[in-house]
Amino acid sequence: MKLSSDVLDVLRDDLVFVATSSSVGVPNVVPIGFARPLDDETILIADNFMDKTRKNLEENPKMALIPKEAAKCPYQFKGTVQIFTSGKYFDEVTEWGENAMTKLKPKAAILMKIQETYTVKPGPEAGKKLE
Ligand SMILES: Cc1cc2nc3c(=O)[nH]c(=O)nc-3n(C[C@H](O)[C@H](O)[C@H](O)COP(=O)(O)O)c2cc1C
Repeated sequence: MKLSSDVLDVLRDDLVFVATSSSVGVPNVVPIGFARPLDDETILIADNFMDKTRKNLEENPKMALIPKEAAKCPYQFKGTVQIFTSGKYFDEVTEWGENAMTKLKPKAAILMKIQETYTVKPGPEAGKKLE
């Protein structure tokens, strides 16, 4: 499922929770403020402070993400990431950092390509994959 304009609006404004897993299967979840949709299937994330998240992604480039406002936007997104430490995506997150209230210097740009979307809306359809 491609991201609808309502979902794009929530993702533009909201904190998201990002889950990763090490190659031996230890899960890790963190809140992330600098995550913005670039288009209807791609989310750009700034690695400002990542530690376990970044190590996990280098071992296993799979990510799951839900918006903090899951009551308003009840979706779980899963995808594969690429990590950039230079180039246009890195320049973009660097600009976000320069324009932040407290200046930040991102270490990398994480580009998530959404491959699967699931509903987490409470009810009989909860957990179902959306096409
Ligand atoms: C409200 C909030 C927003 C955050 N936003 C970001 C962010 O945009 N980028 C980032 O790298 N870390 C961000 N962090 C820090 C991460 O949540 C986390 O502390 C960091 O990735 C280290 O944890 P880890 O070792 O599990 O990766 C944020 C933390 C909070 C509480």
